[in-house]
Amino acid sequence: MLGGGIVAGSVVLLTGEPGVGKSTLLLQIAEHLASEDDAVMYVTGEESPHQVKLRSQRLGIPGQGIFILPESDIDTILEKLDDCRPVMAIVDSIQTLHCREASSGPGSVAQVRESGLRLMHWAKTNHTPVFLAGHVTKDGGVAGPRVLEHMVDVVTYLEAQDAGSYRILRNTKNRFGSTSEIGVFEMTGQGLAEVADPSQAIIAQRYRESVGTTVVPVLQGNRTLMLEVQALTSPSSGPAPRRVGNGVDYNRLLMLSAVGNKRGNLGLAGQDIIVSVAGGFRVDEPAADLAIVLAMASSLCNRPLRFDLAAFGEVSLSGEVRPTPQAQRRVQEASRLGFSKCILPAANQDQVNPPPGMQLDFVESLHESIQTALGNPERLS
Ligand SMILES: Nc1ncnc2c1ncn2[C@@H]1O[C@H](COP(=O)(O)OP(=O)(O)OP(=O)(O)O)[C@@H](O)[C@H]1O
Ligand SMILES: [Mg+2]
Repeated sequence: MLGGGIVAGSVVLLTGEPGVGKSTLLLQIAEHLASEDDAVMYVTGEESPHQVKLRSQRLGIPGQGIFILPESDIDTILEKLDDCRPVMAIVDSIQTLHCREASSGPGSVAQVRESGLRLMHWAKTNHTPVFLAGHVTKDGGVAGPRVLEHMVDVVTYLEAQDAGSYRILRNTKNRFGSTSEIGVFEMTGQGLAEVADPSQAIIAQRYRESVGTTVVPVLQGNRTLMLEVQALTSPSSGPAPRRVGNGVDYNRLLMLSAVGNKRGNLGLAGQDIIVSVAGGFRVDEPAADLAIVLAMASSLCNRPLRFDLAAFGEVSLSGEVRPTPQAQRRVQEASRLGFSKCILPAANQDQVNPPPGMQLDFVESLHESIQTALGNPERLS
């Protein structure tokens, strides 16, 4: 997530909804870095040292080398940091800090900006990394001044799916590495545990023969993930049909609905359409276009797609299926997880060697893809 490791003197802002697990993750990071000779300073402005201790006991963290500082005054914090000379400092959270010079209350824009600046200066002059926990606003942005996101080196979000125990860590900014890497964790009684094979975990939760679902191999940094796209279409009762996308870009969804209607011969115009990506993941790649349209087509004709089918390909406005980068990597991941059929762009044919037991259907158009997947040439509605 951090581009190969923690860069000395870098400042990382970890944000997320209340209760998502920020403090848990920070404490686990502290545990990894702290030792008898290497101190990690954990500044807590939100919880008492006793509460932090209770959590660390639950997580099974003995706390060797972790120093808890219950303090919110930035001058005092910097003094203690200078005394302690830790290998890393954690501040939970940036919104609780205040500095004497700025007159407004803790959490205000001026206070957060000033405290953030001071911590950054400390990190850079001491070549010591600082991790900050940060609150989010109602619409999901980092609370406090926008400039905080510009100041820090990395901004990362910890996200939870609606009711599940998965937590997904996503960078929105990284000065030292890619922003496309994600971390997938599960929240357990002992803290956040890495999900080593997220594709496998997602696929394991699928039901057999389910109408309106397709699986697409997408690239997330160095990983290839098999994500399940789900679509529900139902006749609209309002004057303007609704389109709702969870984990897909809304404008992309509008475009794909229009292309599916016009070029794919799907009767989508009078339908409400809801598209979701299972597990709280996001698909931002055009490679997921074909899977989204096939999921809509499956829902529309109320017929499931084959359970062992994966599909990928970019869909153009004219209804062509365009080539997709890294086709071989995607086909291989599908094959590894037991998929035996894949619909993919004809333009990728030269770059792909079919893995054993995998049938590849190369398609040129959306219309052809729908026929291949659902086998019905008539207008579907
Ligand atoms: N015994 C437990 N078993 C499993 N999960 C637990 C347990 N206790 C707490 N949790 C999980 O830990 C979460 C709280 O984590 P944490 O306090 O790290 O979140 P946070 O993001 O720091 O919250 P805040 O915004 O309030 O500071 C709970 O929402 C719950 O999911
Ligand atoms: Mg917390």
